[in-house]
Amino acid sequence: MTNIKIHDKIFEPNIKFAEIDLATDRIAQKINSDLKGKTPIFLVILNGSFMFAGDLLKKITLPCEVSFVKLASYEGTKSTEKVRQLIGFDEDITGRSVIIIEDIVDSGITMENVLKQLESMGAADVRIATLLFKPAAFKKSYRIDYIGIEIPNDFIVGYGLDYDGQGRNLKDIYKIVK
Ligand code: IMP
Ligand code: MG
Repeated sequence: MTNIKIHDKIFEPNIKFAEIDLATDRIAQKINSDLKGKTPIFLVILNGSFMFAGDLLKKITLPCEVSFVKLASYEGTKSTEKVRQLIGFDEDITGRSVIIIEDIVDSGITMENVLKQLESMGAADVRIATLLFKPAAFKKSYRIDYIGIEIPNDFIVGYGLDYDGQGRNLKDIYKIVK
């Protein structure tokens, strides 16, 4: 694997798909056993999570529903700390088990926003599954139930994650070269 250029920045290979796939396997197995006997709703947070969600859901053996919300908080390589909701919740989740699927929890602001909305909508229980987690950037205190890979506080692209709109299609994850 070689370095790539997106807009004005260079990115180097960081996490290969094989490693992502193993982490996804672990999360799926855990969810399949933790939610045995339930019919959860998976809530995919667009855009970044589309690739992880696709791969994770193929490994889920539970009867389930899949729904989508679209939020945005990043501009360029920085979080704006303001979350804009672009497509809203349209499902009745009263009394349901909800599993939120995220690509990455960074500051944790986006996820907090989703959790608050779900609480007010009467879900029976809400769990979080994220492929990536940046512990050094996390500013919140809620529990994250399923974490694929913990990473340092560097900006990354690929496997759904973008830099100003590009890089989401990459199969592997790349890290910014400073
Ligand atoms: P948070 O609100 O700071 O936790 O950021 C969450 C959202 O920002 C994620 O769902 C991603 O879409 C985006 N994000 C966070 N870190 C990165 C990164 O390193 N590269 C690309 N997007 C990121
Ligand atoms: Mg995201």
